[in-house]
Amino acid sequence: MAGEVQYDKVRAVELRDGAVHLIDQRVLPLEVRYEVCRDARQVAAAITDMVVRGAPAIGVTAAYGVVLAAAGAYRAAGPGWRAAMAGDMECLRASRPTAVNLHWALARMEEAMAGLGAEDPTVPLTGAATRLHAEDIEANRRMGVLGAALLPKGARLLTHCNTGALATGGYGTALGVVRAAAARGGVAAVYADETRPWLQGARLTAWELVTEGLPATILADGAAAALLQRGHIDAILVGADRIAANGDTANKIGTYGLAVLARHHGVPFYVVAPTSTIDRACPDGSGIPIEERDPLEVLAFRGVRHSPEQARAWNPVFDVTPASLIDALVTEEGVVERPDAGGIAALFGAIRPA
Ligand code: MRU
Repeated sequence: MAGEVQYDKVRAVELRDGAVHLIDQRVLPLEVRYEVCRDARQVAAAITDMVVRGAPAIGVTAAYGVVLAAAGAYRAAGPGWRAAMAGDMECLRASRPTAVNLHWALARMEEAMAGLGAEDPTVPLTGAATRLHAEDIEANRRMGVLGAALLPKGARLLTHCNTGALATGGYGTALGVVRAAAARGGVAAVYADETRPWLQGARLTAWELVTEGLPATILADGAAAALLQRGHIDAILVGADRIAANGDTANKIGTYGLAVLARHHGVPFYVVAPTSTIDRACPDGSGIPIEERDPLEVLAFRGVRHSPEQARAWNPVFDVTPASLIDALVTEEGVVERPDAGGIAALFGAIRPA
């Protein structure tokens, strides 16, 4: 809208001069540093090492990784490029297990590849990846509008992990709703769970909020219950890494606990995610692979151990919130209230009628 503040300054991923440029999310906000990936293996390593993270951002980055894989394969093998890039595709596919957007993006790029001959695939695949990126931003903007409409004016919001421009092609999912609500002048407070152990909330969400001039209050994950008990929150907004066909939702560890708290305190709990995060081949949450990362992420901080040497740690980085605890799923195609298998099937039926 003309004159409206857009709150949209941040971009995490870019394909430029034949390389993928990523804001290094491991060091934000202390440093704004970029990592430049010149081949698909470097892109896969950047995803595994969490230089870039967040389900949709992983998908967009992997799509650009396919461009680099194909360009490299054409340089090495000419018309045999397709076979020559198979190893790179497997490496990208294995880079992180939970975010289904990775597989969605690789499937989209494979569709684009299927229409090509033996000639240099770089330009058409660059077009396909750039379109996928633009579509993600567009989807986020639509979710922003739909999600903001669910919130009261002057809402006090709680969010978990980072679901903003850094976690997506741009703008964000749950944080996109915060941006959209702020643009219409409707946000009184944004509470960001710090999100142990990677501190995506304390570092990344807080950085995005302050960069946009929006209010940011960080709390320890364990403080969320007390905040809800005091009646300070009007709605909880989270993103998703994979949503099963029945609405069960995998998201950053701690999300399930928030959903239980929300139900206990009668606060609406909203999941905001594009349809690229819905895995219709997965009937329910029990089939979602949950990544477990290095215990040292819990036992130490920035390389400094704070727990006894003899102690071990369990470090699942996602949990699954049952659909029954979700008040609404906001997608770019519409809002599914109290999501279940029927509601999600109807959403897809509306997109692609049988
Ligand atoms: O381990 P991360 O930082 O990749 O986890 C990210 C999340 O859990 C986000 O909430 C999710 O990807 C949604 S991002 C729009």
